Amino acid sequence: MCLYNLRGKIFATHDTCTHGQASLATDSSKAREIECPLHQGKFHIPSGKATGVPAPRNIRSYAVKVEDGAVLLKE
Ligand code: FES
Repeated sequence: MCLYNLRGKIFATHDTCTHGQASLATDSSKAREIECPLHQGKFHIPSGKATGVPAPRNIRSYAVKVEDGAVLLKE
């Protein structure tokens, strides 16, 4: 699981790249895209959509709710 704070809004996606077994959690970018550290595939954080080759498929994104300071995810 990856959690992102983009200008105060929280997003969550699956952690593993769809191209290989690379963790996406190592990218500390402040942009709305996350880049895979292994082959630089890219994904749109709010939707999980694959936006850059060689990422072949979207990563899963999760609905997020912040309640009393706790981040809650919905499957
Ligand atoms: Fe992520 Fe190749 S493992 S782009």
